[in-house]
Amino acid sequence: MTSPQACSASPQTTSRRDFIRASGGALAAVGLAGSASSLWAAPVEDSFSLPSLPYAYDALAPVIDAQTMMIHHTKHHQGYINNLNAVVSQESSLAGKSLVELLKHLDSIPAAVRTAVRNNGGGHANHMLFWQVMQAPREAGKPSGKLGEAIASKFGSFANFKEQFTKAAMGQFGSGWAWLVVGDGGLEVVATANQDNPISTGKTPILGIDVWEHAYYLNYQNRRADYVDAWWKVVNWEQVAMFMQKAAS
Ligand SMILES: [Fe+2]
Repeated sequence: MTSPQACSASPQTTSRRDFIRASGGALAAVGLAGSASSLWAAPVEDSFSLPSLPYAYDALAPVIDAQTMMIHHTKHHQGYINNLNAVVSQESSLAGKSLVELLKHLDSIPAAVRTAVRNNGGGHANHMLFWQVMQAPREAGKPSGKLGEAIASKFGSFANFKEQFTKAAMGQFGSGWAWLVVGDGGLEVVATANQDNPISTGKTPILGIDVWEHAYYLNYQNRRADYVDAWWKVVNWEQVAMFMQKAAS
């Protein structure tokens, strides 16, 4: 199995390691997922399956209501998994590959199924990360410690970062995602269309917001700006810090 971290020995990787070394000591984070990529690196013996949420469906209310969370998890996320499993069962060269292997090497996937893997593998990976980077609402939640310092160093201030991230989320035409990633030069804000994952372009996501309408429409209807503005209250910054620390390890 090839993990993105193992695709190394490049100037890019060295840069990332320098960035992480400069930005992180060990984080005491019992109960947090290890690395973003580790979410997607598990060997697949039989088929992909829906992971449980790390909280109840109503835990994020009122920012995200319970019905939205339940439908999002059991219908939309499950749907991507079902479609991905169907594709893998039809294309023997994909058997046993992890999500990381699939998404890091889309060009090596047979053209006839590449788009299906990109959309549904990405949909599975993106939602796995999305559930992990949220928690019950906190009014004044913001990054602290090394993550807070890294954000301030890169973007000038947390407020500037929020503005840039929000602009990416609002500027994504149609369905997609906005991300905070570890890229060649450290932290970056990027947006992706549909279910594309930054890992397919060599960047490791550590925070992402789903701006598909299915993520917010029941509560916010067309008001994506209100959803994005409220969403900051449910960001699990300790988990994001852990993902940053592990991004180049
Ligand atoms: Fe979604």
